[in-house]
Amino acid sequence: MQQRKNTVNCAVVGYGRYHDFGRMHCRWIGACEELNLVAVCDIDPASRERAAREFPGIELCACVDELVSNDDIDMVSVVTPHFTHAEIATECLRAGKHVIVEKAMAPTVEECTAMIEEARRAGRKLAVFHNRRHDGNYRAIQQVIAQGTIGAVFHVECCEEGYAEPQQWWYSEEEKSGGVFFYWGPHAVDWVLTLVPSRVARVTGSTQRRVWSQVEIADEVRAHLWFENETTAVITFSRIAAIRKPLWRILGTKGAIEDSKVGICQGNYIPHYQELLVGDAGEGQVRVVTVDGEEKEETLVDYLESDWLTYYQDMAAAVLRDEPLPVTGEEGRMTVAVMQAAQESGEKGGVIIEMSDYE
Ligand SMILES: NC(=O)c1ccc[n+]([C@@H]2O[C@H](COP(=O)([O-])OP(=O)(O)OC[C@H]3O[C@@H](n4cnc5c(N)ncnc54)[C@H](O)[C@@H]3O)[C@@H](O)[C@H]2O)c1
Repeated sequence: MQQRKNTVNCAVVGYGRYHDFGRMHCRWIGACEELNLVAVCDIDPASRERAAREFPGIELCACVDELVSNDDIDMVSVVTPHFTHAEIATECLRAGKHVIVEKAMAPTVEECTAMIEEARRAGRKLAVFHNRRHDGNYRAIQQVIAQGTIGAVFHVECCEEGYAEPQQWWYSEEEKSGGVFFYWGPHAVDWVLTLVPSRVARVTGSTQRRVWSQVEIADEVRAHLWFENETTAVITFSRIAAIRKPLWRILGTKGAIEDSKVGICQGNYIPHYQELLVGDAGEGQVRVVTVDGEEKEETLVDYLESDWLTYYQDMAAAVLRDEPLPVTGEEGRMTVAVMQAAQESGEKGGVIIEMSDYE
């Protein structure tokens, strides 16, 4: 009988230039007892040099072919630009590796489907890195809703707005990122889909291109979601909103929740989030209003801890003990489907997109 291993040997593809996010994945892996970082792959020599300095002793590869030929590697985290995710993930799955792919899973639903099918064929795990399900403010909101404090949720608004010039990088090119929604949108859409216990039936969207004409992507996108249980949601990402709305407004039959946390457009969404490893007790409070007849009561609920390490701990359990994946490929795909549908609708003047078209 084959002996069961008690650690997973991990590699990270894409150490990071703009966000250092591959480096963060290396740190999370290093902080998990059941995971062992053995290699980093990056096409950029300067990124490989930084990885060698910061994680001495690991193997460094200049291309994915070289990485997947190492039989000691069990799992690969893909932390590269969106347009490269499908190709890299597929190559790793074919070589028998488990894969974590960063959000957005890919710029198109077709690529997400191809990755899911490849994982099935290869009999390997495929998970999408929606780490922000572990944000402290989001966890507090989830808890208030689960306790039934505001009754049945029927409308959700999640809004990341600001007035800021976009930089020129791969994300500002439609084909490389997927479009304006694919930067912050994956977090917001995943949050909303996780919060509402129903399937999305229809999506419409609107896009604006008015100010930042030096980049290809739109200035803002608004997605309107209709769920099968008749809940509605509006998710907004804007770079041309000089007055912001709260990040969250959630309406229920017995009350409402508001969270005005400042978003990433302002650059301090979670303080020092690049360094965040474990147990960051988020500073802030969620405003909860409950209604009893004509009476209203307001309470402030403290944010819970933001703990992104949980994701990797759950992934280790999935690989070693076949426990549930932290986020499945199908969930990552649904998030991409909603973003793609909203942008498509926006480009076509707000046509209704039936989500069954994406199944
Ligand atoms: N989950 C989060 O909170 C979060 C935060 C930031 C970024 N991200 C995601 O992480 C991913 C990377 O984003 P980023 O901002 O770090 O990008 P980036 O451009 O800063 O870094 C990408 C790295 O990948 C390398 N690379 C590119 N193509 C490669 C290839 N074919 N093979 C090997 N290496 C390659 C680049 O040299 C670079 O070092 C994206 O999917 C992004 O959305 C997620």
